[in-house]
Amino acid sequence: MIDFEKFTKYSKPGPRYTSYPTALEFDSKFGFSELKKEFENQDSSRPLSLYFHLPFCRSACYFCGCNVVYTSKEDKKERYIEYLEKEMNILSSLIDTKREVIQLHFGGGTPTFFSASQLKRVIDLIKSTFSNFTKDAEISCEIDPRFFTKEHMDVLKDGGFNRISFGVQDFDPKVQEAVHRVQSYEVTKNAIEIARDGGVKSVNIDLIYGLPYQSFETFKKTLDLAVSLDGDRYAVFNYAHVPWMKKTMRKIDETTLPDPKVKLEILKYTIDFFENNGYKMVGMDHFAKPDDELFLAIEKGELHRNFQGYTTKGGADLVGIGLTSIGEGKDYYVQNHKDMKEYEKAIDSGILPVERGIKLNEDDVLRNHVIMELMSNFKLDIKRVEKEFGIDFKEYFADGLSGLKEFEAEELVTVSDDFITVSPTGTMLIRNIAMNFDAYLKKIPEEKRRFSKTV
Ligand SMILES: C[S@@+](CC[C@H](N)C(=O)[O-])C[C@H]1O[C@@H](n2cnc3c(N)ncnc32)[C@H](O)[C@@H]1O
Repeated sequence: MIDFEKFTKYSKPGPRYTSYPTALEFDSKFGFSELKKEFENQDSSRPLSLYFHLPFCRSACYFCGCNVVYTSKEDKKERYIEYLEKEMNILSSLIDTKREVIQLHFGGGTPTFFSASQLKRVIDLIKSTFSNFTKDAEISCEIDPRFFTKEHMDVLKDGGFNRISFGVQDFDPKVQEAVHRVQSYEVTKNAIEIARDGGVKSVNIDLIYGLPYQSFETFKKTLDLAVSLDGDRYAVFNYAHVPWMKKTMRKIDETTLPDPKVKLEILKYTIDFFENNGYKMVGMDHFAKPDDELFLAIEKGELHRNFQGYTTKGGADLVGIGLTSIGEGKDYYVQNHKDMKEYEKAIDSGILPVERGIKLNEDDVLRNHVIMELMSNFKLDIKRVEKEFGIDFKEYFADGLSGLKEFEAEELVTVSDDFITVSPTGTMLIRNIAMNFDAYLKKIPEEKRRFSKTV
């Protein structure tokens, strides 16, 4: 039995490390000219991973932390597609669009809040810009099951989409009402059937724990219903409550949120539940069938983490297109404007709509490697890091290692001369463990850290 009470002290604000340095460190000093330089120096033999942000939703789900535009106006969507086209035209003059594309992802918002014919236009524009998709390219779309028809699926199928990720979050009616996301089991089931009938080989289902009115008992039922849908992957996210950043989250009554002890109990149950149902844990919040490439990647130590979560596709340059999209190269991150007017203004003046970014220094690159390895593979090969980066690990990270002492004493990690190894219970606190190697976090007093809680 795990004493969860003991670990509630780790419920602290902390990054989710979809990047390191985190987006808080991105700065307007890194703008379009800096990105242009990066593109000029980029190795064209590196493949591309493309992310398109399709930001529109009909109404707000109160838990949502994504960058979303609420509208039902058709002309706004049409206008957005025109700007995506213009953005791709500018991009074509800056990068080699014949580079191999190994990944394409539509994120949102709700990509299928576009009509099927609008979605087809977006896909056709992409395919006419980027001509070299590899045969086994991973092409995926996030879908709200309430906005998904066979017509959408036909368009996605023609576009080669082979992965669909469905947003569910929770099946309990009281929870659904509290977060303004009422979605019956039948609606989700039908949507998954449409995808399966359309030949989609991998279906992912998103759930969130930590939502209002959730309890151990209610989440157990949600998991039973979720697994009956036979997803290939499940993402079970820890609810990131950041009402100072997201206005709609202020509609959530904080007194109804489960406390850290309950959240840890739910998480532990979730991990065991999926293992007992034939899935394997991948990273801190994913579960996959054992024959899934995500899982196989862990066996080979090749799991990577980026803005879209966990992926097998390392070594690609990520290009983000659309409002607020994030791009990532070997040693930089870049983000597009969040404000639609600014986004359009930049494109109208003939440049990419970059708002901010960061060029990584040597220390950033090293810490990025350490943090991402821990977040992805729960293990760090110290000797390999020493060889690759020419450092004495124990000396360089004396501070981080001393921070780990507490975790070692509680058997959450072991540190030998060769490896840092996270224990099964430690995986539940992986953000806290990784935080020890974050140079920026140390400079911010704990009460001023504007991240969601780790537990
Ligand atoms: C853009 S949404 C998915 C697409 C679609 N709009 C939907 O809601 O079904 C991406 C996913 O991020 C997760 N998510 C959004 N806000 C979150 C938050 N504050 N904390 C944790 N996960 C969150 C949800 O699981 C959601 O399904």
